[in-house]
Amino acid sequence: MTRKRIVNVASVPKRSPFRYPGGKTWLVPEIRKWMRSLTFHTELFIEPFAGGGIVSLTVAFEGFADHVILVELDPDVAAVWKAITGPHFQKLSDRICRFDVSKENVQRELSQTSTDNDDIAFRTILKNRMYHGGILAPGSSLMKHGENGKGLRSRWYPKTLAERINAIGDIRERFTVVEGDGIAEIRTHHKNQKAVFFIDPPYTADGKKAGKRLYLYNELNHAELFDAAKTIKGDFLMTYDDAEGVRKLAQERGFNLELIAMKNTHHAKMTELLIGKDVSWVSAPDSGHVQKQFAFD
Ligand SMILES: C[S@@+](CC[C@H](N)C(=O)[O-])C[C@H]1O[C@@H](n2cnc3c(N)ncnc32)[C@H](O)[C@@H]1O
Repeated sequence: MTRKRIVNVASVPKRSPFRYPGGKTWLVPEIRKWMRSLTFHTELFIEPFAGGGIVSLTVAFEGFADHVILVELDPDVAAVWKAITGPHFQKLSDRICRFDVSKENVQRELSQTSTDNDDIAFRTILKNRMYHGGILAPGSSLMKHGENGKGLRSRWYPKTLAERINAIGDIRERFTVVEGDGIAEIRTHHKNQKAVFFIDPPYTADGKKAGKRLYLYNELNHAELFDAAKTIKGDFLMTYDDAEGVRKLAQERGFNLELIAMKNTHHAKMTELLIGKDVSWVSAPDSGHVQKQFAFD
């Protein structure tokens, strides 16, 4: 049996430098409940499909775990996390503050091919801000720039970005970044009884979602992921679109399911399946109050 819950996202600090397709800011209140429900102290929190990483950031900033591992296969996204959690994180925030937004400067910067990690990180953040929907995958395109690049300038919030990066950099000892495969990282830590995994994989099986054009890496063997989750000794929470095939994968392995709902900026209701060993902590409905997503995501 699954029930529908409405999530109240009234108090979720925006901490990620990304605006990420499929970002889980709205799920943060539920994540806090989940972490509080655990009967052991979490030594290690692992996000095998990190993307914009808002869940990991929340866990680290709010002290829900001693250490956090962000795993991401996309080298451009991983470069950002490495730069921010490295000793020279301020080089990135300073560069963001200095950047003069114009159509020419954006295009010049994005056409660079330097393989230095700091350069890749800067380009990725710029692209994430300036491309439609924050989409970094091939096929995505630059926003309309208007007169003198005014449209592009309206997408650039240097002070906010720099503050977020510096805040993460200040607590960088709490993070490890792994550029690699999320399932492999689950297998590395599955026996750790004090390790907790938040698993939000790319998912396109129902065909209607735009996942294929959202991420560079969108193919995944979901049965293999569920098998890896089954071996986890600590705890895990997975989030998926509600689809029959997903329910089947979960039920075959004896996992619990809860369906939750939220409204997005356009007042469309979105539902999401939460899957875990025990998801009975999922909240009772609140007053039905649902906050809109923030203007600057
Ligand atoms: C649904 S998104 C995660 C969104 C994230 N929870 C957030 O709030 O921003 C899935 C992410 O997994 C990454 N990814 C895809 N395949 C992967 C793999 N095998 N290992 C690690 N990361 C992978 C994608 O690049 C994408 O960033």
